[in-house]
Amino acid sequence: MTTEAKNLLDPGFELTLRPMRYPDFYERYRDAIKNTWTVEEVDLHSDVADLAKLTPGEQHMIGRLVAFFATGDSIVANNLVLTLYKHINSPEARLYLSRQLFEEAVHVQFYLTLLDTYLPDPEDRAAAFDAVENIPSIREKAEFCFKWINEVEKLESLQTQADRRRFLLNLICFAACIEGLFFYGAFAYVYWFRSRGLLHGLATGTNWVFRDETMHMSFAFEVVDTVRKEEPELFDDQLQQQVTDMLKEAVEAELQFGRDLCGEGLPGMNTDSMRQYLECVADQRLQRLGFAPVYGSENPFSFMELQGVQELTNFFERRPSAYQVAVEGTVDLDEDF
Ligand SMILES: [Fe+2]
Ligand SMILES: [Fe+2]
Repeated sequence: MTTEAKNLLDPGFELTLRPMRYPDFYERYRDAIKNTWTVEEVDLHSDVADLAKLTPGEQHMIGRLVAFFATGDSIVANNLVLTLYKHINSPEARLYLSRQLFEEAVHVQFYLTLLDTYLPDPEDRAAAFDAVENIPSIREKAEFCFKWINEVEKLESLQTQADRRRFLLNLICFAACIEGLFFYGAFAYVYWFRSRGLLHGLATGTNWVFRDETMHMSFAFEVVDTVRKEEPELFDDQLQQQVTDMLKEAVEAELQFGRDLCGEGLPGMNTDSMRQYLECVADQRLQRLGFAPVYGSENPFSFMELQGVQELTNFFERRPSAYQVAVEGTVDLDEDF
């Protein structure tokens, strides 16, 4: 029923797992299963007491943050099914994407539970879930995502080099800009609260989401690396320019969200430090993709540098039986945080 594909982006529905053409994707699928967690394991009780202690500025920040979380992972899950699964023609990669889809569902469930807990008033709750329509700083980020979804929506198969470039831009957008920048920005606010001893339930769930997102991004970059090996001619100056422009646009979109969240600034968290952080992250994404960095900014958030190690420690402490095999080179802690 299928014609044999030569390359990862050749159209079709390759079914053969032996001999295995992309064993790395299969190993990533197996690794991901070792990280299974459930929303029921996250205890949000102490957060409710913490929320009552927050200043009005902090409460505003949390309100905006959870409103972003209300739809972020659903957008990613839709693109995964409608675009990535369709065009990455490897049964090993499709196994990984199936697993990723489950993880996105857990994330959606986590944020649903979080909003139900944080926002007891039905009107506030409805407004948060409708944020992509009624909160401009969130709508702008959603529109950025939809633009890159729409770019590939009509692509039935990747026949030409132009088709493949459009697909690559979509893939890179979701990995580097959405999972790798919008979500990292959002996580930074969560860890800023945690660094002040607040909202431990949210931080716990975020640890596990963070870990998953890091793996999703790493998988997507591995797909990019594979395509680069197979079809190096796709990676020309034009693609580099498009990716660089896209990341700059994502930094600006995340920054206008940051202005909305931070207002006049809070101790240790303001628009300037968030700009530096986002620029630093954007440079890391560009470098991981083999492109030149553009900002040269340092990470101003010490609580994010610790994050990689702390997350794993927490994970091991809480899950000694469920998590049986140590992480071995699947997450590059030095590079991505
Ligand atoms: Fe997610
Ligand atoms: Fe993800």
